[in-house]
Amino acid sequence: MNTVNHANLTTAARLSVAPMMDWTDRHCRYLHRLISRHALLYTEMVTAPALVRGGALHLLDYHPAEHPVALQLGGSDPAELAQAARLGFEAGYDEINLNCGCPSDRVQSGTFGAVLMKDPGLVAECCAAMIEAQPRDVTVKCRIGVDDQDPEEVLPEFLSRIAAAGVGRITIHARKAWLQGLSPKENRDVPPLDHDLALRMKGLFPALHLSLNGGLSTLDQASDWLEAGFDGVMFGRAAYHQPWDVLGQADRVIFGDSPPHDSPESVVHAMLPYIEDHLAQGGKLHQITRHMLGLFAGRPGARGWRRVLSEGATRDGAGPELVLQALAQVSQQSVQV
Ligand SMILES: Cc1cc2nc3c(=O)[nH]c(=O)nc-3n(C[C@H](O)[C@H](O)[C@H](O)COP(=O)(O)O)c2cc1C
Repeated sequence: MNTVNHANLTTAARLSVAPMMDWTDRHCRYLHRLISRHALLYTEMVTAPALVRGGALHLLDYHPAEHPVALQLGGSDPAELAQAARLGFEAGYDEINLNCGCPSDRVQSGTFGAVLMKDPGLVAECCAAMIEAQPRDVTVKCRIGVDDQDPEEVLPEFLSRIAAAGVGRITIHARKAWLQGLSPKENRDVPPLDHDLALRMKGLFPALHLSLNGGLSTLDQASDWLEAGFDGVMFGRAAYHQPWDVLGQADRVIFGDSPPHDSPESVVHAMLPYIEDHLAQGGKLHQITRHMLGLFAGRPGARGWRRVLSEGATRDGAGPELVLQALAQVSQQSVQV
């Protein structure tokens, strides 16, 4: 189990895995943690109303091995966010993050996510309330702007307002969100990326810890952007779809430590006790293996690995033996090559 020095989160935040709804659940994060001991992991967004009004505290469940792990909250009511942040702290999260980047309709109707880029004063108020309510770092994940906003103008204003409220660490998804006319998925691809604009923010706010997010898929790119001046980089889809390729060497390249596993096969074996525990508690195999499908991406046998798991993991009684059967597809192919 990792022990967490909360003051060291700025180091962990040199490399993080993005919050992704339906994807970065606790099983996914456990897998990522096996691959990198050091990267900062984010939960899916949990809305403050769900925690505070809905009492859905099970949304805060996680495995102790996941540390360092940040809770991402969605909301726009300072008092409610403060209560939710407190609940996150009490649950043991290492950081509380506010979502100012998610463009989905549901999120807009609740006045949170990317629409908050239009109201930096309210975001500052929310952050101040969250900081006041509990001792962990409060961070923000934002876009460079929304709709017809001019990012060169609004982003510095946004950053300076939240910095004044006490936020020291921010992740910038370096594209706008269009609040009308694009699906959430299109909003992650269509608005153009502007990494250089995000980097200029580091020049304007040298004291802020700024992480770059959007379109990054290799550790080489991550290292280049860190060298260019960012304090951190955040991987989203690439870490999910190719967890081994993207994170397998992260501890060595980014944190100067030896990686915990030398192959994706070794990661699979390390997942087995976790899988057994989950099944023993009444869980289903596919709830975990769906996050493991990309472990062998681009390698011989990857297709067989995915096929065996996709076809078999939802069947009643499916267990670790199916995972070993899927793994045999990979080893057979390796022998043939
Ligand atoms: C399936 C999915 C769900 C996402 N859910 C969230 C979320 O809950 N909160 C958030 O801030 N961003 C969310 N995002 C956006 C990612 O955190 C990230 O900003 C985006 O994918 C761009 O990074 P990438 O190009 O490395 O994937 C989501 C992205 C995906 C693909």
